[in-house]
Amino acid sequence: MLGVFSAKGGVGKTTTVSNLGAALAQKKRGKVLIMETNMTASNLGLYLGVVDPPVVVQDLVYGRVRPEEAILKTPYGLHLLPGSVAYTDEVTAVDFSPLTEALRRKYEVIILDTAPGFAPEVTAAMRVCDSILVCCQPQVPAIAGTLQTLRMAERLKVPVLCCVLTRVTGRRWEIPLPEIRRTLGWPALAEIPEDEAVPESITRGTPVVLWAPRSPAAVGYLKLAEQLLSHLRRRKARKGVKKVKRGSRR
Ligand SMILES: Nc1ncnc2c1ncn2[C@@H]1O[C@H](COP(=O)(O)OP(=O)(O)O)[C@@H](O)[C@H]1O
Ligand SMILES: [Mg+2]
Repeated sequence: MLGVFSAKGGVGKTTTVSNLGAALAQKKRGKVLIMETNMTASNLGLYLGVVDPPVVVQDLVYGRVRPEEAILKTPYGLHLLPGSVAYTDEVTAVDFSPLTEALRRKYEVIILDTAPGFAPEVTAAMRVCDSILVCCQPQVPAIAGTLQTLRMAERLKVPVLCCVLTRVTGRRWEIPLPEIRRTLGWPALAEIPEDEAVPESITRGTPVVLWAPRSPAAVGYLKLAEQLLSHLRRRKARKGVKKVKRGSRR
């Protein structure tokens, strides 16, 4: 269970979730789910061209609907648990764990899209994650937000796999990479360049890794997906070793 977080909005969380999901699903068809956890401003579905799903994550979390009724299967092997785009001012305590525990049994990889800020739904999402990615942009407000998210992860004891620096243009007003590394105290940074293909792909409702796989942003996301896959393989291997050791002690 992987979550994509950032305290600041508009820094590329949903773009990252939809593209990593689509890239991983190319290798693991039907075994990757992306899930909405932003309960008041859900928009993950829109990035895959899903506008008004009949059953949504809110029905699962607050109601008695079964996950199979809400999960949509894309033609490219990625499964989606969307939220409702309707306006609601209802703020209710949320616990994702019963739902995510059920989904863990069905999927190899689940990626959570999250709300900005630190509302209870953000904490609830981080609590169910095995590890997280933090999205950031090379600008001061986004970096400040990233520091807050890193602190939150530390407090909840959730490992941070890497920071994803999105919309990098290399223009003179951007904070340079070495300075961002120093400020965050975080060595693992993935870079995704600013790329017109991204908004274009969102308008088409198709992740950019599928819409324009050779575009600079798609190449960045495909590379990050490869790194994630090898991380997952290493983790699986370590779990295997632990099981064998436990077995041999008996
Ligand atoms: N690499 C990129 N190049 C160009 N535009 C991007 C890129 N990544 C994201 N965007 C744009 O930035 C906006 C915010 O992205 P989004 O993924 O919705 O952020 P968040 O989920 O953090 O609010 C979107 O309109 C998207 O088109
Ligand atoms: Mg978003």
